[in-house]
Amino acid sequence: MDVPYIDLVAQHEPLKEEIQEAVGEVLEHGWFILGEEVSEFESRMEDYLDVPHAVGVGSGTDAIELALRMREIGEGDEVIVPSHTWISGVSAVSLAGATPAFVDIDPETMLMDPDDLEGALSERTAAVMPVHLNGFPANLDPIRDFCETHDLDLIEDCAQAIGTRYKGEPVGRTDIGCFSLHPLKVLSACGDAGFVTVRDDEEAETLRQLRNNGRETRSHFPHISDNSRLDTLHAAILLVKLRHLEDWIDKRREHAAHYREALGDYVTLPPEEREGDRSIYSMFVMRHPERDSIQDRLADEGIDAKIHYPTAVHQQEAFDHLEPRDLPATEQIVDRILSLPIYPELEDMQRDAVIETVIDAVESLET
Ligand SMILES: Cc1ncc(COP(=O)(O)O)c(C=O)c1O
Repeated sequence: MDVPYIDLVAQHEPLKEEIQEAVGEVLEHGWFILGEEVSEFESRMEDYLDVPHAVGVGSGTDAIELALRMREIGEGDEVIVPSHTWISGVSAVSLAGATPAFVDIDPETMLMDPDDLEGALSERTAAVMPVHLNGFPANLDPIRDFCETHDLDLIEDCAQAIGTRYKGEPVGRTDIGCFSLHPLKVLSACGDAGFVTVRDDEEAETLRQLRNNGRETRSHFPHISDNSRLDTLHAAILLVKLRHLEDWIDKRREHAAHYREALGDYVTLPPEEREGDRSIYSMFVMRHPERDSIQDRLADEGIDAKIHYPTAVHQQEAFDHLEPRDLPATEQIVDRILSLPIYPELEDMQRDAVIETVIDAVESLET
């Protein structure tokens, strides 16, 4: 049975009419840049995440870069980041002019290891950027304590974590949260988009200026800045999809529960949720020392499983120039991780075919 890794056509099929109507309304009013749908989406995000401000921008990468620029973190500063993550969050640190300082992951959660933060600290450290990778919340309390002790900014990379909860609260509301609405995310635009959450009124205003060529009024530009606005068309589509977000998260969690139940004796599962936490399972990442054989076997059956990510960021050519640091847990997992298909439209039969094939593959390795 064919099981694609993700099926965006199936996601949009039942929404087509609603989306066409929403797009039609934008075509009628013609306010393509920062139209009313953008502010409507921002205020819906403020309610959903319980934050004072959400500012729509062009992508998740831009969200991070603009947040750093808003805090004037740039040349001469270091930002502590995990290396087991999608590269663009780390690139955004460099694009802002700062230097990434890598920290290892906790081998259980595969997320930033608070116990390794001290090792990445220097007198140039300005911020810490945990990543809620795979939709699972990073262990924020010790990270927040570390930031408070050393007077550092806390910028959460929430690109994969809209609706993820840590100890009962949505992530992204401690200090700054950076979200992606890329088509592969749990809530997605039909193209690139993202937003930043901030608590302070003045900072929200600065971000609104930074996303808009540094403009305060038609005739006054206090900053030199790029153009990175959330498009009105995307916002209109996002407002439609937002109505379904909680159902989609429930469905992902239901699939994850089935995977967990069936595969626990065969592979290492994603981490268990701590009390009050909610993973949105933007990815279901299993681990096994014979990952490649399992992936090949799945491919033979028409099942597309992927590796997020096959090379740790500190080992990418782009970051050759940074001082190397020992990241044993990060380096160990890249050969073991495998992301199984998980999305609301995944049919139960398809999910069961994935389970059966993973079990078969593991059993045949053991014989
Ligand atoms: C962890 C992480 N950070 C940052 C980003 C950047 O988001 P975007 O692709 O919207 O620029 C992504 C997107 O894939 C991501 O997964």
